Amino acid sequence: MGEKEKNLSKEKKEKRDSLKVSRRSFLKGMGTTAIAASMTTLPTPALPEAEAALPPGLKEATVQLNVNDRVYRVKVKSHWTLLDVLRRELGLTGTKKACDRGNCGACTVLIDGRAVYACSLLAIQVQGRKILTVEGLRNGDQLHPIQKAFSVQGAYQCGFCTSGQMMAAKALLDKNPKPIEKEVRLALAGNVCRCSAYPKIIEAVLSAGEGR
Ligand code: FES
Ligand code: FES
Repeated sequence: MGEKEKNLSKEKKEKRDSLKVSRRSFLKGMGTTAIAASMTTLPTPALPEAEAALPPGLKEATVQLNVNDRVYRVKVKSHWTLLDVLRRELGLTGTKKACDRGNCGACTVLIDGRAVYACSLLAIQVQGRKILTVEGLRNGDQLHPIQKAFSVQGAYQCGFCTSGQMMAAKALLDKNPKPIEKEVRLALAGNVCRCSAYPKIIEAVLSAGEGR
């Protein structure tokens, strides 16, 4: 092999090695991102006792869902998510569908007072639970203090994340009526705002707490 050919094959090898490294670093980066994402998705659907109650092989069932203090009897397929049933079967479209895979919090609802992602739960798992959606926040004509605070502070831009943010805020304020900023940030860490309206959102939750 001549000198020129040797240099060429050395160059090729170096290029190949550098590609290997960048692919490895890329995968490493992906791993870190996945871990970070799972750490920030605070509201989780961990209801293992409900999951354990699912009869094996069940394909379809009529379930009773208690949503916003109203009981709905609804026929569902066993793979339908709570989010799809709320929006499509019950017409409660205030709960938003964005990532549909437990990453963004747009679909946050409360189940027995706890913030969960409705896209990550099956409707069949939540029979007998108290489900609260954004439609259940207001009291007749009266907006909930959290809704008022979001409106007064202008805590939204496109508004797509707003119902999820408000539900996460409700879960927090019900337990901790006067949170400090750090606690608000932590409670809302699983709710992504693509418009980056975070400062106003935090302000709104703090002021809703103060007004209670
Ligand atoms: S739509 Fe459920 S977490 Fe994004
Ligand atoms: S206001 Fe647009 S995603 Fe939050």
